[in-house]
Amino acid sequence: MSKTVEIIIEGKSYQLPVIEGTEGEKAIDISNLRDMTGYVTLDVGYKNTGATTSAITFLDGEAGILHYRGYPIEQLAEKSSFLETAYLLIFGELPNKSQLEKWESDIRRRTLVNEDMRKIFDGFPVNAHPMGVLAALASSLATFYPAVIDPNRDVDANYLRITRLIAKLPTIAAWAHKNSQGHPLNYPKNKYNYCENFLYMMFALPVEDYEPDPVVVDALNKLLILHADHEQNCSTSTVRLAGSSHVSLYSSVSAGISSLWGPLHGGANQEVLEMLEAIQKDGGNVEKFVEKAKDKNDGFRLMGFGHRVYKNFDPRAKIIKVACDNVLNRLGVNDPLLEIAKKLEEIALKDDYFVERKLYPNVDFYSGIIYKAIGIPTDMFTAMFALGRLPGWIAQWYEMRKEKQPIGRPRQIYTGATQRDYVALDKRG
Ligand code: SDX
Repeated sequence: MSKTVEIIIEGKSYQLPVIEGTEGEKAIDISNLRDMTGYVTLDVGYKNTGATTSAITFLDGEAGILHYRGYPIEQLAEKSSFLETAYLLIFGELPNKSQLEKWESDIRRRTLVNEDMRKIFDGFPVNAHPMGVLAALASSLATFYPAVIDPNRDVDANYLRITRLIAKLPTIAAWAHKNSQGHPLNYPKNKYNYCENFLYMMFALPVEDYEPDPVVVDALNKLLILHADHEQNCSTSTVRLAGSSHVSLYSSVSAGISSLWGPLHGGANQEVLEMLEAIQKDGGNVEKFVEKAKDKNDGFRLMGFGHRVYKNFDPRAKIIKVACDNVLNRLGVNDPLLEIAKKLEEIALKDDYFVERKLYPNVDFYSGIIYKAIGIPTDMFTAMFALGRLPGWIAQWYEMRKEKQPIGRPRQIYTGATQRDYVALDKRG
C-alpha cells in the first residue's frame, strides 16, 4: 500500500504520494502538484526541498553521519585511497584488484594536458586566483575534446571523459600555482601515484631533487577522500542543473568549480585561515572575535562554523581535527593558528548563540591548517577542495544523466509590477 498525504486547498482534498528512502528519509512527491492544484511550492534556498533521489551519498545532519555508497566516511578515510573512493562514488561499488589497477592506469596515462593550454595560462594575470584558472581551463576541455556524447549510449566515450577529467585537473591546478609563482611548470611523472604526482607538480623545482613526503601524501589522500562528495550541496546542485541541459561534463564541472569558489561554500577554507591569521595579528583575543560573530551589526562571521545540514558535528571536521594534530606532530610543525582554532571552537561550543543555532565546526574549519602545514598556499585551498569534490560532481552528473532526468527548470512566484503601458520618454517624470 503506497503511502500518501492529504492536503486541502480551498476546501478541496488532494492525495500526494510519499517517497521513503533506504535510510528512512521521507518526502512528499509534488511532481504533479501544479497540474492537480494550480499551486507550486516556494522554498528559497531549497532548505526543505529535495531536488532528486540519489544512491551516492547519505548524510544525517542531526546524527553527524556521512556514508559514500553505504560505506562510513571514517572507514574510507582510514583505509581507502582517493582514486579507489572516486571509483566507488562514480560506479557504485568498491573496485576489485584488476578494476582498480585498470582505473589507476587509465588515469595515470591521461595526466598530460594539450600544450595549447599553456597559451591560456600565459593569458592570465600573474596573481590570477587558482579557482578562476581552474574553472576556465576545465571548461576549455570541452573545446579540446568537443565530442557530444550520451553517457547511456557512448559508455566508453563517457569513461574516457571521466578518466581524462580526473587525470588532468590536478595538472591544471598545479600549473595554476606554478604560473602564479613564476616557476617553471612541472610535468606529471608516471612513477608517482595520484597524490604523489600532484605534490611533485606543485613543489618540485629544477634546482633540487624532490620526493613527496609519505606523511604529506597520506594527509592529502585523507583530505581528498573527506571532500569527495556531500550529496546535494551548492556546487553539486550546480553541476546537476547545468548538466541537465546536456552540456558536456567538462562545462558542468566548470560551473561547479565557480559555485564552490564562494566564501559561504568551498571558499570558506581560505577564509578560515585568513580569519585565524587576523585573530593572531590582533593579539589572539579569541573572545573578541566570538562576540563579533554574534553581533548582527558586525559583518564578521565565524568562518568554518555552521552548516546548512549538519546540526551536529560535521564528521569530516572531527577526522580532520585529529589528522591536524597527527600531521603537524609528524612534520614537527608548531602552528599557533591551530591553538587559536581549538580555543575558538572551545569557546563557541559553550556559547548560547552557537549552541542555540546548532553551529559547529564544518569541514573547512581545520582543513586549511593541514594544507598550510603540507605547504599548500592559502589561495590554493579551495582548488584543493575542488580536486577532492571532482569525483562527487562526476558521480552526481553521471547519475542524473543515466536516469535521463529532465532539464532543471524551477518555477517562481512573481511579485513585480502588474501589466502597464509603455510611456514615451517625453511623458515620463
Ligand atoms: C561547505 O552544503 C554542503 O554540504 C556544503 C559543504 C560541502 O561539503 O559541500 O559541507 C561545504 O560549504 C561548508 C560550509 C562552509 N561555509 C562557512 O563556513 C561559512 C560560514 N558559515 C555560514 O555562512 C553558514 O553557516 C552556512 C552558509 C554554512 C549555512 O548557512 P544557512 O544554513 O543558510 O544558515 P543561516 O545563514 O540562515 O544561519 C542561521 C543562523 C543565523 O542567525 P539568526 O538569523 O538565526 O540570528 O546562524 C547564524 C546566522 O547569522 N550563523 C552564523 C554562522 N553561520 C550561521 N553566525 C556566526 N557565524 C557563522 N559562521
